Amino acid sequence: MSEVLAPASPLSNRLLALTESATIAMAKKARELAAQGVDVISLSFGEPDFQTPQYIKDAAKKAIDDGFTFYTPVPGTLELRQAICGKLLKENDLSYQPNNIVVSTGAKQALANALLSLVNPGDEVIVFSPYWVSYEEMVKLAEGVPVPLVGALENDYKATAAQLEAAITPRTKLILYSSPCNPTGAVFSKEELGEIAAVLARHPHVYALADEIYEYINFVGEHYSLARFAEIKDRVITVNGFSKGYAMTGWRLGYLAARADIAAACDKLQGQITSGTCSIAQKAGAAALRGGHGSAEEMVAAYRRRRDLVLAIAQDIPGLVTPTPSGAFYVFPDVSAFFGRTAPDGQVIRNASDLALYLLSDAHVAAVSGDAFGAPQCMRFSTAAADDKLVEAFQRIKRSLAKL
Ligand SMILES: Cc1ncc(COP(=O)(O)O)c(C=O)c1O
Repeated sequence: MSEVLAPASPLSNRLLALTESATIAMAKKARELAAQGVDVISLSFGEPDFQTPQYIKDAAKKAIDDGFTFYTPVPGTLELRQAICGKLLKENDLSYQPNNIVVSTGAKQALANALLSLVNPGDEVIVFSPYWVSYEEMVKLAEGVPVPLVGALENDYKATAAQLEAAITPRTKLILYSSPCNPTGAVFSKEELGEIAAVLARHPHVYALADEIYEYINFVGEHYSLARFAEIKDRVITVNGFSKGYAMTGWRLGYLAARADIAAACDKLQGQITSGTCSIAQKAGAAALRGGHGSAEEMVAAYRRRRDLVLAIAQDIPGLVTPTPSGAFYVFPDVSAFFGRTAPDGQVIRNASDLALYLLSDAHVAAVSGDAFGAPQCMRFSTAAADDKLVEAFQRIKRSLAKL
């Protein structure tokens, strides 16, 4: 009888090819160190440190008391989708109907829905780089081929329309970017988006996935949506959510706006995976939109102040090249000047991951290597922490880097 060999791993190739989120991995390391009593300052996670505004919490409590505890329609309650249409019209000059909107468990699921609905195996997805950690892995899960389009430091890491034109092939399905950008904080202007829209207009087979989750956290002025360019609106999927602008990370509420057939595809997919997201969170989201984004303005003022506090120290550290972010809540310095240097314990810093580990052990500051964002010469530090913590963190970083 021939012997039946057990496979080495029961896990699927799909899962085995997936990389763990670097931000989550670093946050885990920082928590482990903190549990040993070390005073760790964690700047690894992209999470507002503000409370969800009270009026939003009240709406959620009321939803529970009113018994709003049943399944909702898969793409979200009509109330919330109508509120989203109202927001998109008023704030973004985008006209959509509820059947263009799919509400999901965070913008993360909205992105995954769009990619899984549009990408065929082997399709190329042009990912503006540096990019948010999950983009590349999500494209791979959809069996697409991520094609990074690397923006130059001199252009605040923003890819240009000319670069895009050169990168498009007959296999290109989609471009994918965030503005304001995580991790660089770069914001695409109306003019830059107009040039990108003109390229897309020349290539009718290419769609765009525009991640606008940091819309409100913008220090330079008007946020502009790619979907506003009428000639390509039908091919733009706009993703947004409540995590950053309304400090609602734990509520898990995001959405996309797209052409009706694409929205219907995302609805169909979500209907087989998670169904509609939490009914209580949807009531909270509708209240958030009714209340406008006044609460975001206070948070934005704090993020700007913190950015400036951090830059005052970071831009003074020899070897660190730290562009001024225009939005979001990160700084993303080039740290490559430290590669090849030796730590006091004799360890050679070969790359940004070594530097991140060195800063964790020497300065007790957790940050993330740029590798996971497509920029191995960089590191990402979140500025979503209290002012005194940020100043303390960057003073520690300065002292530790001076030892290399
Ligand atoms: C660029 C970007 N897109 C999407 C998300 C996901 O947001 P959500 O909490 O709504 O899933 C994040 C969260 O860090 C992000 O930084």
